[in-house]
Amino acid sequence: KKVVLAYSGGLDTSIILKWLEDTYGCEVVTFTANLGQNDELEPARAKAEAMGVKEIYIEDLREEFVRDYVFPMFRANAIYEGEYLLGTSIARPLIAKRLVEIAQETGADAISHGATGKGNDQVRFELGAYALMPGVQIIAPWRDWDLLSREKLMAYAKEHNIPIDFATQGTKSPYSMDANLLHISYEGGLLEDPWAEPEEAMWRWSVSPEAAPNEPTYIELTYEKGDIVAIDGEALKPHEVLEKLNQLGGANGIGRLDIVENRYVGMKARGAYETPGGTIMLKAHRAIESITLDREVAHLKDDLMPRYAELIYNGYWWSPERKMLQTMIDESQEFVNGKVRVKLYKGNVIPVGRESADTLVDESVATFEDDAGAYDQKDAEGFIKLNALRLRIAAQKGRNLL
Ligand code: ARG
Ligand code: SIN
Repeated sequence: KKVVLAYSGGLDTSIILKWLEDTYGCEVVTFTANLGQNDELEPARAKAEAMGVKEIYIEDLREEFVRDYVFPMFRANAIYEGEYLLGTSIARPLIAKRLVEIAQETGADAISHGATGKGNDQVRFELGAYALMPGVQIIAPWRDWDLLSREKLMAYAKEHNIPIDFATQGTKSPYSMDANLLHISYEGGLLEDPWAEPEEAMWRWSVSPEAAPNEPTYIELTYEKGDIVAIDGEALKPHEVLEKLNQLGGANGIGRLDIVENRYVGMKARGAYETPGGTIMLKAHRAIESITLDREVAHLKDDLMPRYAELIYNGYWWSPERKMLQTMIDESQEFVNGKVRVKLYKGNVIPVGRESADTLVDESVATFEDDAGAYDQKDAEGFIKLNALRLRIAAQKGRNLL
């Protein structure tokens, strides 16, 4: 038996590594991905080697992550429950895909991850894995073992000579965190009380709006088919776009969020998020769509957006219904080209200009000045009268009276 483990190099997944070997007598292949979380990856290699792992996969997936997952999602303006920009949700399908690809490459029959039995991540990893490798076996140690307290974990680590200093990987934090190029998330700890305001020291990616510069920052974003391809005229790859926007947004106090959300497994959970670049992208994308999309296409997209966001939140990226919606969303972006000028100021993202060779704005029609016959105001009379017809009939029949 061989298992591919999603391995961060931290204490928990190191314990999982050992536990898998002990419990199943299996060989473990580790997979560690750089999705832009800013952790050093080489320590994960050294630790896996020290634990006797023979097949170690360490991969930089930043470009693929933003190009094939984050950007397609932003074409839909996706947000979950009106607030959450899906930073963790959108990374899971890619990790699931690589886990099963590596399983196939190495002849493994199982995959394993360090998500708990209480969360969304287990669902996302496993739905993705089953969709791509129907016969895969999945081992989720947090649902199986009895190491349910910190003490038991530490005792297990000691007993099996897993260096405790594995726990100090990165800076120690009282929160359960997850980071990638799109966001950093915080859950647990002080946040479990929905009334308690997060301490300022929790936030890692952004200054507070209060501490942001008094001078606004202006940027110009160039769009092609709904994706940002340049910032201030400089052509950038997708992941470079996000890196740059994270930096600009973070410096201006943009993208902090504090919510209670409904997890797919049924519970409500408090979470705090920093999504500086994503927050800019969402506003700016709506601004470029506002001049390039047909009204009905825009409204239909907005009707379907919550469904699309829920599919991603719940782990159905690799489902036929998500692909169907994606085809439609991508098709809608054909004319979403042009430029948006955005002002960043103390936590706010304020679009101040938009232009496009594909604009649907017709100034001669919309003008308050003389339109020289472009639009006949008399046409509006019949338009309104016919639209009012059913209302008038109902009123004549005695309905809807004051
Ligand atoms: N609640 C968010 C979501 O479901 C964030 C999950 C964070 N995951 C983690 N392993 N810390 O997308
Ligand atoms: C976890 O339970 O492993 C993290 C939180 C989540 O997946 O929602």
